[in-house]
Amino acid sequence: MTIVTLAQRPDLAVATFAIPYPPGSPRFMEGNLAGSLARGPRVARRWPHLVVALLDGDRPIARGVMVAYRSDRDDRAALPDLGWDQTATWAAEDALDDIAPDTACALEIAVHPERHGHGDSTVVLNAMREAVGAAGLETLVIPVRPPDKATKPMQPMHEYAGQTRADGLPADRWLRTHVRAGGRIETIASCSMTVQAPLAQWRHWTGLPFDSDGPVAVEGALAPVLTSTAHNIGVYVEANVWITHTPA
Ligand SMILES: CC(C)(COP(=O)(O)OP(=O)(O)OC[C@H]1O[C@@H](n2cnc3c(N)ncnc32)[C@H](O)[C@@H]1OP(=O)(O)O)[C@@H](O)C(=O)NCCC(=O)NCCS
Repeated sequence: MTIVTLAQRPDLAVATFAIPYPPGSPRFMEGNLAGSLARGPRVARRWPHLVVALLDGDRPIARGVMVAYRSDRDDRAALPDLGWDQTATWAAEDALDDIAPDTACALEIAVHPERHGHGDSTVVLNAMREAVGAAGLETLVIPVRPPDKATKPMQPMHEYAGQTRADGLPADRWLRTHVRAGGRIETIASCSMTVQAPLAQWRHWTGLPFDSDGPVAVEGALAPVLTSTAHNIGVYVEANVWITHTPA
């Protein structure tokens, strides 16, 4: 296994971003608007040195995707409540304004489903810390999305993230992986990722009827979708967990 950045192997950009999510992953995430600014080939073109790929031979089997922004611009909060959406937007703003960054934000780590459970995510995480250090950036922040929270969509994130095992590590496996790798849980990004859409779109994404008002639990969602039939809207607001890592 080897680790590269897409600055070193631009020829692997398509294969790196083609690593799929597990079957059953929620389709509605494609409705997140900030994600369209900071996903896929666009990121690879602007920040190729901040996209790492774990290779099996020449085949990418895991990716770690980061963007960069300036943390002390426009009174920006160190760890904003708007989490993922906010930092993706800041990175896009700074790219358009040609502002030199000082902070990296990880937007995604994905391991090929065939390779889950082999510790690859920690290898990717450590490579991301090294890429941030090599880029001369001071900080690595991550609005972490613990996918297993989908089993408890009605539980507030601060309660979920605060649960620990007897050894003091987080009960959630993905938070635990970050903490084991040296990450520090800082706070909750209560409005980190949002998806808003008419109810017909939610029906299309989920196959659910969306015919009554109130919270609706959707497979793969970390929080309920809040719906109003009178206004024809479904709004999903996902909390994430702010974790900081030290660049290597
Ligand atoms: C989350 C993800 C990156 C973890 O990657 P991974 O390489 O499989 O994880 P690891 O092998 O390092 O395992 C991490 C921990 O999760 C546990 N784990 C792995 N797969 C598991 C599963 N299917 N069910 C329960 N626990 C699991 C491992 O045992 C380990 O915990 P432990 O060390 O305390 O035993 C991977 O599942 C993935 O790509 N998911 C889809 C994308 C995603 O949701 N990314 C995170 C948000 S951006």
